[in-house]
Amino acid sequence: MTTTFIVIAISLGALVGALLYWLLIITEGTYLGTSAVVLLYDWTAGRYDRIKDLKYVNELAFVALPIAGSLYKVPNPRLLDVATGTGRVPLALLRSMTQEINLVGADRSRGMLDEARMATDDHGEDEVTWICADAMSLPFGDSSFDAVSCLESLEFVVDPRRALREMIRVVKPGGVLWLSNRVGWEARFFPWRLAGRGRLEAVLKELGLLDVETRRWQVHYDLVSARRPREL
Ligand SMILES: C[S@@+](CC[C@H](N)C(=O)[O-])C[C@H]1O[C@@H](n2cnc3c(N)ncnc32)[C@H](O)[C@@H]1O
Repeated sequence: MTTTFIVIAISLGALVGALLYWLLIITEGTYLGTSAVVLLYDWTAGRYDRIKDLKYVNELAFVALPIAGSLYKVPNPRLLDVATGTGRVPLALLRSMTQEINLVGADRSRGMLDEARMATDDHGEDEVTWICADAMSLPFGDSSFDAVSCLESLEFVVDPRRALREMIRVVKPGGVLWLSNRVGWEARFFPWRLAGRGRLEAVLKELGLLDVETRRWQVHYDLVSARRPREL
């Protein structure tokens, strides 16, 4: 009787542990709602950059150059980075000094935005506008940006299609979206979200975007670009 009870208690404990690991670590709160995701990022904001340990040379080659390359013919380009976190994309573009780009970073986590602001202050880079906003309801007019990026975040957004529609709305006709698609082993643990090789591309085509291109980018992510047609 006692042994049976211990076995049941251990099994239940393991099940609850696995469930919490999935809910809080692997999927970072997305199945508990946007507020849970934001709370987790507010908590970890001060440690985020140390955990990620992004290298300047990689950020230059794999973030700044592809994005800047798509804007080099555009006079006074404007870029919006959705779910900017600690400002990875704006900072990579500023530090690459490829060209002058008018940069806006938006995120729901004030903690992450505070870190982004501090990073830009440290470098005397005040050319970025930081805005606390939800990816699913962007506070910008239609066709406001020449490019919109959203890296390592779509899989945590509760309604990724709505977020994509918002990004398409705010990007100009002919403008480009730069998105990452979660493709690592853990992608299968994101049911009802946007993750897994090829899924993002299919949704982008369904939403009417052109020139959908995928690059192998990181172990856990592909980088996907797509262009808004002149007429949509
Ligand atoms: C893994 S971080 C990625 C940050 C940054 N893009 C990068 O590549 O380092 C995910 C970010 O998505 C943000 N986020 C999640 N859901 C969001 C939403 N609905 N609206 C805006 N930001 C959101 C989080 O606050 C967090 O800063």
